[in-house]
Amino acid sequence: MNAMSANESPKIDTSRPHPARLWNYWIGGKDHYAIDQQVGDQVAKVFPSVRDVARHSRLALGRMVRHLAAEEGVRQFLDVGTGLPTRDSVHEVAQRVAPESRVVYVDNDPLVLAHARALLVGRPEGRTDHVECDVRDPDRLLAEAARTLDLTRPVGLIMFGIMGNVVDDDEAYAIVRRLVGALAPGSFLALNDGTGVLDAKGRKAAVRRAVEGGSTPYAVRTPEQIAAFFTGLELLEPGVVSTSRWRPEAAPSGPPAVDAACGLGRKP
Ligand SMILES: C[S@@+](CC[C@H](N)C(=O)[O-])C[C@H]1O[C@@H](n2cnc3c(N)ncnc32)[C@H](O)[C@@H]1O
Repeated sequence: MNAMSANESPKIDTSRPHPARLWNYWIGGKDHYAIDQQVGDQVAKVFPSVRDVARHSRLALGRMVRHLAAEEGVRQFLDVGTGLPTRDSVHEVAQRVAPESRVVYVDNDPLVLAHARALLVGRPEGRTDHVECDVRDPDRLLAEAARTLDLTRPVGLIMFGIMGNVVDDDEAYAIVRRLVGALAPGSFLALNDGTGVLDAKGRKAAVRRAVEGGSTPYAVRTPEQIAAFFTGLELLEPGVVSTSRWRPEAAPSGPPAVDAACGLGRKP
């Protein structure tokens, strides 16, 4: 099953899996190639909870954006590592609360950008923009974002499932520091990444399988290392927790924990 035409863009390499397309496969989307499905299945075999991790990450992303728009009055969002369009994208959630919300989507995968330009358009009262940029180039990323967002006013910086792709810890922390440093006081960082707490062996095997299959390396950080991205920020309750447990909407005790951790922090 392959919903995509192999000659969509000369820049798209269909012989290797890509993080955005693997993610799309695990959340049940249709925007991936045979190689993504093949490697995605191999990963799910050794780390069966990968689909729950992906599904709960999308749900937590929605809860955080809704909180920022409805409770904190945030009207500008910078979504870095957008992924392929799916239900409840950032502009849909934000513009449901405040139609004038502006959203800049950033990703380094040309396929994501091609789909995002077609589908992540938003309401006329607001604005959306799509930027092809690597997060390792935060200065260009900020310059591009500033075409749509007023960086002198608060921004919700969304970094869901992206920083594991920057495997060097020092570089990863420096990138987030640079991005948050450029934002106005009252801005927020929403960050989520995979952990290896519940199934360390499975997670390790999953990363190995993905890399052997041709995907890019992924740094699995501990919840404490993920919490360190929020240094200097005021973490909102309940802090950095398993992604399914961040203010769950279901039963008060929440769904079972998943092997990912997220948090939402405010820049003082
Ligand atoms: C795991 S997906 C997460 C998608 C979405 N944020 C979510 O949580 O559902 C990671 C996304 O980050 C993008 N990505 C990976 N490395 C990147 C980099 N160095 N610069 C920009 N985007 C990157 C991938 O293309 C992919 O779309």
